[in-house]
Amino acid sequence: MLGVVLAGGLGTRLAPLTRIVNKHLLPVYDKPMIYYPIQALVNAGIEDILIVTGGNNSGDFLRLLGNGKQFGLKHINYTYQEGEGGIAEAISLAEHTAGGQSICVILGDNIIEKNIVQSVADFRKSEKGAKILLKKVHDPERFGVPEIEGSRILRIEEKPAKPMSRYAVTGIYIYDATVFDKIGKLTRSNRGELEITDVNNQYIDEGSMTWAELDGWWTDAGTIESLHHAANLVAETGANRLD
Ligand code: G1P
Repeated sequence: MLGVVLAGGLGTRLAPLTRIVNKHLLPVYDKPMIYYPIQALVNAGIEDILIVTGGNNSGDFLRLLGNGKQFGLKHINYTYQEGEGGIAEAISLAEHTAGGQSICVILGDNIIEKNIVQSVADFRKSEKGAKILLKKVHDPERFGVPEIEGSRILRIEEKPAKPMSRYAVTGIYIYDATVFDKIGKLTRSNRGELEITDVNNQYIDEGSMTWAELDGWWTDAGTIESLHHAANLVAETGANRLD
């Protein structure tokens, strides 16, 4: 399984912090933001990692992370996303490195208290379809939101005015290699992006989507408020704990 960390984009919701610096290089308490998602993948036993970067300072990821020695890795792969094409477009850049393997994607601004060990292990039993991680939040309208019946997700709506549940689709997605064909079928949304929600809805339509609820706190760090909140959470409890 290839781990994919998405660290492109312009980070406009964090302006002016991101006018010069790539969002994922900004500090979250005592570490650069991108350290947290990389550590989450490493904790789940994923040693083959691709960083998809873009926007400002893309070369600085190489200087910061090198070959991943500080995470106990032997090597890190890098690729570059031109423009602002969205999460699904960034994932499509992983096709070559994945070489037919399944992938575990984590958004570079997503930080978790605990770990995804169990979900990755569960997916690996069959390596088919998709698994997404959900978390109950107080402001679901900011995220992709699932409509759930029993244990099944019926559909996901991106930033709905009237959310069908209190769950957010977190930025952690595990996909089999058919994800790249699914991305190939997408058309751009109103915000000009290839939406990850449209990929997830294709897995739902073919009946191969599973989900789990993320243990411990989860936050993104893509707005001033959530960046501040993330730093406080890390300072209070630490992130990426294995207990
Ligand atoms: C993206 C996804 C959304 C998901 C969120 C998680 O939103 O489109 O479905 O819930 O990440 O952080 P964005 O940050 O692009 O607005």
